[in-house]
Parts: sequence; C-alpha cells; structure tokens
Amino acid sequence: MLPVLQWPEDGNNLRNPRQMSLSCLGGAFLFMVEMKNKLLLLFLLFCVACSDMGTNPKEEEIPETVSYKNDIQPLLNSGCVNCHGNQGQLSLATYAKTMKGGKSGKVVIPKNSAGSLLIKKLKGEASGQRMPPKPQSPWADIKIELVTKWINAGAEDN
Ligand code: HEC
Repeated sequence: MLPVLQWPEDGNNLRNPRQMSLSCLGGAFLFMVEMKNKLLLLFLLFCVACSDMGTNPKEEEIPETVSYKNDIQPLLNSGCVNCHGNQGQLSLATYAKTMKGGKSGKVVIPKNSAGSLLIKKLKGEASGQRMPPKPQSPWADIKIELVTKWINAGAEDN
C-alpha cells in the first residue's frame, strides 16, 4: 500500500481507547459528558444572549406579501370584531365589510395607508378614541405596520 493510504490507521492511534487505562477512560468519559453539558448550557446561554428576544421582530414577522386572509383578518378578529362585528356601524368581520367602511365612509384607501382612517384610528391620529379603546392597550407597532403594508400594497383580498 502507498504510505499515504496508511495515514488514517496512524491517526487511529491517537483515539484508540485501548491506549488508556479503563479507569482513566471512565473518568475522561464522565468529564467529557459533564463538559459537554456545560458547554451545551453555555452555548444555549450564548444563543439567548445573542438573540434579540423578539425585540426586533420586523424582519421575521412582516412577510414579503401580507395576506388579508392569513395576516389581517385574524388580527381584526382578535382585537376589533367584538365591537366592529354586526352592530350596524363599521364592521371589520370580512374583507368586503372592512372595505365598505363605516359612518365616516371608507376606512381603507388602497395604496394610501396615511389617508386610511383604520390606520389613523390604530395610531390615535384621528378624532375620537384610539382603537382599540381603553382599557385595551394600543396595538404594537409591528401589528400596525403589517396593516400599513397590506394597504400600501393595494389592500387586496389575498
Ligand atoms: C370596545 C369596543 C371597540 C373595540 C374593541 C374597537 N373599537 Fe373601533 N370603535 C368603537 C367605537 C365606539 C367607535 C366610534 C367612536 C370613535 O370613533 O371613537 C369606533 C370607531 C372606529 C373607527 C372609525 C369608524 C368610523 O366610521 O368613523 C375605526 C376605523 C375603528 N373603530 C377601528 C377599530 C379597529 C381597527 C379596532 C381593533 C384594533 C377597533 N376599532 C376596536 C369601539 C371599538
């Protein structure tokens, strides 16, 4: 055989367990297991420390294309529809109703989030109460941004 092909066998000597005494091997093994756990713990702590713990979710949470059905309607359902359901005024229960608007007329103007009453109400920039009204807390910026993006992309029934 060529010497170069024998190299892996030479290398084996380094990790050949027979070279170590059994007790030494056991000790080393336990030590390694313990170290491995510690290292794993350290590594996990490191990961947690490096992650932003959800404080900067923009890149992760705002999808490329915002879907009314999958992104917007669920938000409205959980925070708005209990009041804006079927009480005769503004209903946000379906796409068609959301687009129809309320007593002030349309609340969503496609491609114009700044002019959309829905966004102004969410930001507290319109007259009357900020939505959702107190004692509920205002929506997190990320949620408002999601709706903003959907409107500016054309407010489609997607
Ligand atoms: C506790 C009940 C309640 C909840 C929850 C609520 N609203 Fe309202 N909303 C109202 C009331 C009452 C008005 C009318 C008074 C006003 O404009 O301040 C209103 C008005 C509005 C208007 C203006 C409608 C118009 O035609 O003038 C918009 C837009 C709106 N809400 C959006 C929302 C959105 C979006 C949510 C969910 C984040 C929401 N609301 C949650 C009670 C609620």
